[in-house]
Amino acid sequence: MLSLQNLSSFGDVAAEDDAVLDYFLATNVVSEIQSSRAFLVLGRKGTGKTAIVRFLTEGNKKPNNFAKSLNLRGYPWALHAKIKDRGASEIEAYVSSWRYIIFIEIASLILSHPRITHSMHAKGIKEFLQENYGGSSPDLGDILRPRKLKLGKLSVQPSIMGNQLGSLDLERTEKDYQLGLELNALARALFASIVHVIQEAGLGLISIHFDELDQGLSTLDESRKQMLIGLVLAAREVKRECDKEGVAINPIVYLRTDLWDELQFSDKNKISQTLTLNLSWKIESLLDLVETRLRAKLSEDAKWDDIAENDLMRGSQTKWNHILARTFLRPRDVIRFLNASLTEAKRRSVDPLYFTNKDIVNSRDDYSTYLENELDDEIRHHWPQWDEALQACSAISTITFDRSDFVREYDRRKSNSNFITSEEALRILYRFSVIGYEKRSGYGGSSWSFQYIEPEVGWDNAASRFKVHLGLKEYAKLRETRQ
Ligand SMILES: Nc1ncnc2c1ncn2[C@@H]1O[C@H](COP(=O)(O)OP(=O)(O)OP(=O)(O)O)[C@@H](O)[C@H]1O
Ligand SMILES: [Mg+2]
Repeated sequence: MLSLQNLSSFGDVAAEDDAVLDYFLATNVVSEIQSSRAFLVLGRKGTGKTAIVRFLTEGNKKPNNFAKSLNLRGYPWALHAKIKDRGASEIEAYVSSWRYIIFIEIASLILSHPRITHSMHAKGIKEFLQENYGGSSPDLGDILRPRKLKLGKLSVQPSIMGNQLGSLDLERTEKDYQLGLELNALARALFASIVHVIQEAGLGLISIHFDELDQGLSTLDESRKQMLIGLVLAAREVKRECDKEGVAINPIVYLRTDLWDELQFSDKNKISQTLTLNLSWKIESLLDLVETRLRAKLSEDAKWDDIAENDLMRGSQTKWNHILARTFLRPRDVIRFLNASLTEAKRRSVDPLYFTNKDIVNSRDDYSTYLENELDDEIRHHWPQWDEALQACSAISTITFDRSDFVREYDRRKSNSNFITSEEALRILYRFSVIGYEKRSGYGGSSWSFQYIEPEVGWDNAASRFKVHLGLKEYAKLRETRQ
């Protein structure tokens, strides 16, 4: 007999703390990352970026797959900001430094490969790393730290127009335009050695995964934007160079969609169209995700229907649909909701224990606070005073509202430091699916259009009626609108 009494939780809400490898759901995105040409993975908070990185670097122990995750939590962005290539355009000012970092990471990764041969090239890379970093696996945050890099040990000597570089100063004056050229020469030399080592040892696919680029972010300023663009462009360049040389190296960048949306550079569209994977989930795959957890944690054949009583909720809604309607269709939302419901259910000391409608309803307060926090993490960087807009919604007090109500309440609350007009405010709230708008169809019908459900529809400037996302109803203290 299954019982929720035997379940401690549905898992941790962040993949770094979750035993996600015990119940990872390999969606088609995963196989696309492994096989396709895409090198950029975009997803909102909680859509599973870190889960994929963990699966591909820790979970997939095939000898042909050699992978490393590079976590940018605690990355010294301010230090990196100074290693600016003043010979390149502003947009490309960090491409050469990232390219160098990527090759150092690949170099250090292949040196740790069990099949590595001790050739001249492997020795050159090893000694270069030893001399400059004191070991063969420097921390990501230390790669740009030395003031001066000594280049003598490399088997392929970096040179510019035939002149060998004996060393490379990472500390430059404002007027020095050579840094990028020299870093590129160094990266080229490293790459040449790397190609030799890979071919000598016959290594298979090597991948490095850049995750948590948003960690420690307070505002997305120009220099941070340039560094993010630099990493994306550098990863694309490295991938191209590797394809050309016939070595299988995949540098993959995982980025929050809201940050990507803020970046502007000329090849952005091209990259979005052909080299990007978007993480999005359907109701069925989220059910699959939950049931995979139940099978791992409760019993081999456990199903959702085994842990929830099957009476319907208000409006003839199933419990599952009631929960999903309060999420942005992201795994973290679902797991968080279910954990709250589990806590509610366990207040009743019956066995076997199943979810009741009341458990689901009672967990909404706690869940709603969580959802607002998650949104705050996403929206704050773009608009620190977005809570003024949410307060305006609270003041209107019904879950649906007219544009004029919003304008009145928002303008009343808008602080001096808040430069977002009411019109823009509605657009941003829509972009993050805090609100949807009423879409009229032919024949007099209408429906609510939310960005996370139909991203292709887009914002309607002329919309006049809006609805707050159901997950925020409790947090914002909203009530249903009487028809
Ligand atoms: N494919 C999957 N299989 C099983 N669990 C998953 C999968 N994808 C995500 N999850 C779970 O969903 C939750 C959120 O995932 P994760 O922490 O990877 O999100 P994220 O995109 O990295 O979010 P953030 O932007 O906040 O870092 C975690 O509990 C994770 O284990
Ligand atoms: Mg993550």
